[in-house]
Amino acid sequence: MKILNYGSMNIDRVYSVAHTVMPGETILAEGMTVYCGGKGLNQSIAIAKAGGDIYHAGVLGEDGDLLLEALTRHRVDTRYVRRVAGASSHTVIQVDGQGQNCIIVCPGENVRVTDGDIDAVLDGFAAGDMLVLQNELDNTARIMREAAKRGLVPVFNPSPVNQLLAAYPLECVRWFIMNEIEGAAITGETEPAKILSVMAQRYPDASVVLTLGAQGAHCVHGGRAYFQPAFPVKAVDTTAAGDTFTGYLVTGLSQREALPVILERAARASSITVGRKGAADSIPTREELDR
Ligand code: RIB
Repeated sequence: MKILNYGSMNIDRVYSVAHTVMPGETILAEGMTVYCGGKGLNQSIAIAKAGGDIYHAGVLGEDGDLLLEALTRHRVDTRYVRRVAGASSHTVIQVDGQGQNCIIVCPGENVRVTDGDIDAVLDGFAAGDMLVLQNELDNTARIMREAAKRGLVPVFNPSPVNQLLAAYPLECVRWFIMNEIEGAAITGETEPAKILSVMAQRYPDASVVLTLGAQGAHCVHGGRAYFQPAFPVKAVDTTAAGDTFTGYLVTGLSQREALPVILERAARASSITVGRKGAADSIPTREELDR
């Protein structure tokens, strides 16, 4: 089964700091490194590393050569990546001494996806193919709607949370992969059990994976509940941990593996990502996991 990821691509500027900056405070960074990132790019690379048949669609600015090169190097099919004038999106990421991060995404020209782009990309896919979406592009609602009309299987990671979420046709989504913050934004609930229960009532045709970091992940699929504990790990940098989980989960689904096996592998892969610096580069391959 083919997997299309219509996703963001960002240049991550990652600052190592003793603690994340407080309101009104000025601090010195201990260092800065530029990484390839963006939830879309990270998830495509995670899918490729997990062994999925992945096509990445999106837009890149003039400064995006390193992002395109990273996708290509990891054997992501980039025939649906279009280049535009202007800058790509970039981020300012602070990573503190405990490996926790804070991310500011500064959208560039490459968040603009046209209706024509969407139709041309979706023409390359068929009913039953999977579509992965996050919330860093500006025409996500249309992609979701058009893909569902054509029988693709939309998988939505509602990250980052913003006011656009409320207007999305979420009834088109077949898999939600979200954390507590995203779950709270969609349901208005903060307790994991309540988030899952509201999701089941509102979107009875969808399966839901709720990731809780060190507290593991819950999944409701086909009326059955699953729980996957997290693997204990010393956090170095949590950036892209969620993207790793999403990539491994989607790949397992596309290969029709059993859900407990998929969840266990996704949790193991994201625990490895947490133990390494960076975004896409920190995601382990399937061979590493099997070793
Ligand atoms: O999920 C991590 C990603 O979020 C980073 O790579 C950054 O670009 C933001 O999109």
